[in-house]
Amino acid sequence: MIEITQIYKSYEKAVLKNVSLSVKKGDFVALLGRSGSGKSTLLKMINALVYPDGGEIRVFGKNLSDLSGRELMFLRRKIGYVMQDAGLFPHLKVGENIAFVSKLTRVQHAKQKVRKLSCMLGIEALLDRYPDELSGGQRQRVGIARALFNEPEILLFDEPFSALDSVLKRELQSEIKGLASHKACVFVTHDVSEAMFLANRIVVLEKGEIVFDDSADKIALSEDKFIRGLFRDHSRRD
Ligand SMILES: Nc1ncnc2c1ncn2[C@@H]1O[C@H](COP(=O)(O)OP(=O)(O)OP(=O)(O)O)[C@@H](O)[C@H]1O
Ligand SMILES: [Mg+2]
Repeated sequence: MIEITQIYKSYEKAVLKNVSLSVKKGDFVALLGRSGSGKSTLLKMINALVYPDGGEIRVFGKNLSDLSGRELMFLRRKIGYVMQDAGLFPHLKVGENIAFVSKLTRVQHAKQKVRKLSCMLGIEALLDRYPDELSGGQRQRVGIARALFNEPEILLFDEPFSALDSVLKRELQSEIKGLASHKACVFVTHDVSEAMFLANRIVVLEKGEIVFDDSADKIALSEDKFIRGLFRDHSRRD
């Protein structure tokens, strides 16, 4: 579903160097790496918010560089994207934010869907508020609800639970794990136990390059010092 081939991206400095990644239906990829290693940039590229300087990105078989604005709009409806800062529309109430895509796709029963998602995320009492009347964790949950609204086949999460308490975080991790099966998911996190719980594949970016891409049980076999250090203290959850 996502085919990234040898992409390069630089701003003042090189941010991504020769990155290739293929994500198929049923893959749940946890994307880890130090702050500034290029994780969010990579996620933005899959959603065509940022374009590479070199290389190719195909999503649902289509080369993103070839698509018109209209084609991109259609493609993005099949991608749920939770931005690192939630990225809510400040002039829309919570309920309107969640159902934003329904205005584009005329999804039936939008209200019912908003209710169902907001119950799952514990934000049902907040639907008439504006984003600046919410806490950081509440905003994150609205961002997740909005990304799930269209039941997309691809899910991109950029540290979606970073502002949540540990109890809520665990509940939502389980929900997302259930929802994401049979989809293609890329989940950015700094939380190694979260990555181990959710993902069936771990990808580590270091200074713009992929230094690990395999199942979690292969980490122990890695010779790489950085990888071993990253995973040394994790606790696996069942
Ligand atoms: N629009 C931009 N203009 C200039 N530099 C940018 C831009 N976007 C990102 N960068 C730089 O690219 C590098 C990678 O940024 P990115 O946001 O992808 O990191 P990240 O791995 O998501 O980090 P974090 O874990 O802190 O969220 C950083 O050095 C950042 O400063
Ligand atoms: Mg980031």
